[in-house]
Amino acid sequence: MSRSEIEDRIAALRAIIRHHCHKYYVEDQPEISDYEYDQLYQGLERLEREHPELITPDSPTQRVGGEPSEEFPAVPHRVPMLSLENTYSPDEVREFDERVRRLLPGEEYRYVVELKVDGVAVSLRYEEGVFVQGLTRGDGVRGEDITPNLRTVKSIPLRLLQPGEAAPPSELEVRGEVFLPIAGWAKINAERQAAGEPPFANPRNAAAGSLRLLDASITAQRPLDIYVYNVALCGDRSFASHYESLQFLHAHGLKTNPNIRLCRSLDEVLAMAAEWGERRETLPYQIDGLVVKVDALEQQRRLGATSKHPRWAMAYKFAAEQATTRLEAIEVQVGRTGALTPVAHLRPVLLAGSTISRATLHNEDEVRRKDIRVGDTVIIEKGGDVIPKVVKVIPEMRRGDEQPFSMPGACPACGGPVVRPADEVVSRCENHACPAQVSEGLRHFASRGAMDIDHLGPSTIELLLLRWDLPDGFGVCLVDLEPWTLDLLLSGGLVRDVADLYHLRAEQVAAFERQAEKSARNLIDAIAASKERPLARLIFGLGIRHVGQRAAQILAAHYPSLDALMAAGQEDLEDIHEIGPVLAASIVSFFAQESNRALIERLKAAGLRTSEERREERQPLAGKTFVLTGVLPSYSREEATELIQSRGGRVTSSVSAKTDFVVAGEAAGSKLAKAQKLGVRIVNEAELRELLGIAAAIEEENRQAEDISE
Ligand code: IVH
Repeated sequence: MSRSEIEDRIAALRAIIRHHCHKYYVEDQPEISDYEYDQLYQGLERLEREHPELITPDSPTQRVGGEPSEEFPAVPHRVPMLSLENTYSPDEVREFDERVRRLLPGEEYRYVVELKVDGVAVSLRYEEGVFVQGLTRGDGVRGEDITPNLRTVKSIPLRLLQPGEAAPPSELEVRGEVFLPIAGWAKINAERQAAGEPPFANPRNAAAGSLRLLDASITAQRPLDIYVYNVALCGDRSFASHYESLQFLHAHGLKTNPNIRLCRSLDEVLAMAAEWGERRETLPYQIDGLVVKVDALEQQRRLGATSKHPRWAMAYKFAAEQATTRLEAIEVQVGRTGALTPVAHLRPVLLAGSTISRATLHNEDEVRRKDIRVGDTVIIEKGGDVIPKVVKVIPEMRRGDEQPFSMPGACPACGGPVVRPADEVVSRCENHACPAQVSEGLRHFASRGAMDIDHLGPSTIELLLLRWDLPDGFGVCLVDLEPWTLDLLLSGGLVRDVADLYHLRAEQVAAFERQAEKSARNLIDAIAASKERPLARLIFGLGIRHVGQRAAQILAAHYPSLDALMAAGQEDLEDIHEIGPVLAASIVSFFAQESNRALIERLKAAGLRTSEERREERQPLAGKTFVLTGVLPSYSREEATELIQSRGGRVTSSVSAKTDFVVAGEAAGSKLAKAQKLGVRIVNEAELRELLGIAAAIEEENRQAEDISE
């Protein structure tokens, strides 16, 4: 093929692929099979590979490209991104309509009513028909530039369609809502839970989280979608009405929501709201209300806006979704710290697209305040989150045999004493050997943020498979069925506390199952590897009440060893900035218990790192604050952070006048600029090594290596 033939072929393939992409992602009406689409796409990829100089940023193959971004630069919006006034009440919608009528005296007007999709507002900018920039709303005046992530959203065209022969507008800025369909959200959560990560509470959070990922190639795996709903700028083109502008967007390949309606009266608006209140569950995505907009743009202009909201539009939101069901039982669950939580078992009921059979009741006082009894008919609500709650009881539905709840005097897991301190709402099991606490404590100890023991983590499989009696011939693979491991170990009596983990032998674990030798080995290796975890992780892993990851780091930075921490008194601890009296008391009480002191001795005997050796020498950076930016030649972000922290320094994410050093690598972004502006000292990796006091050691190592090679 001649060069011009290749160019023509590439252009033709791109046009065809764009067309089918639009049919599939925007119109939901594919014309060809996935296989045929893949053939076209691969054909284009092949040609572009052979002729990389012909690749353009708007080519369908260029949705994901480049390095992960370091941060999202703030960019001013050319037109401010206002939000809408919200209401839940039809009376306020009526007031809105009356105000519009008052401000447009004697005029006819009509509304466009749209679905209010529950996602993340974004602004998209096209220049000469090509997608060039996408921003979040930010504070409405400045947004974050998340262009690489938005390029991965398949329903956002990288190049506008050109209906007829008309040239694309020289500039076009549109506003829309990026969202995750409910099924996509559920899939991501299943994957996250399997990986031991916390699930997203709702599709909106999942969409927001996905758009804020620093690595667009991960965003690309999330099935994000968009509906555009407004034109902010469109060259010198003007529209008579909002409705017309939406048709324009649709004709240019932008995805608009088909469920819009022109309403000539308030009654029509309210009728549409009532209809969608019923129908919303049939949609594959979440909506949280309707948006009512005056249609004529000239009228919109005259109605104007307050500093926050346009006066020509209003969001009419649905009340949180509720359902009525029967509360069949109240189970009391025991957590890691012995806290007892009442959980309602409900007759399964469909709510906001999923079947609900449990709801948290928080604590005893909450149950009493709402007078919730076993056997009651209750209203449950899902306020946009996954965990439903019991809103109230319907006392009129009582038959007289409902049972009031009271916290059991004995722990449901071990029968031990339950105590509720006078000034607390939480009751606790006092028995530290309680199997429920031990099990939860082990999970915590092994978790990612603590000792990070692979093959011993929680996962959704637990929920599916947690049964003590294994079916005959059921092969337990310790690697795949991680939670089993713990339960098998506990039920087998091999492990009673975290120190026992370090005495396990592979044969003991493998004895549970014939083919599990390799898995058993992996587990034992993972446990052994955890002995070297830094002191801060061990402190966190111990599960001392109120001691989270950050507090553990502060404690490890102040005390060179667990022994020193154990010896600290209430006042010593309170002297540490950021450690308050409650935390200090909790630490003192933990180490005052003989069983905990014995546990620490056994952990030490097992060879765990319970001190940071030669601390004094290794604390050259105590009190210094660092910010990392850009890519360093030999350290990853995590490595550099751990090195700095191990020498007593602190790593924070944003530059301020209080920052001591900014460590700048390649492609450093706005943090570097800010450091220069504020006069913060900027160092490169070599200088960082000097600061860490490891430059000399490394030079020595290199010298030795040279001596050997000579
Ligand atoms: S119009 C000035 N239309 O709801 C115009 N907003 O505060 C402002 N939203 O987060 C927005 N669907 O992203 C409009 N069809 C729709 C919408 C919509 C969802 C979101 C918007 C913003 C919030 C309104």
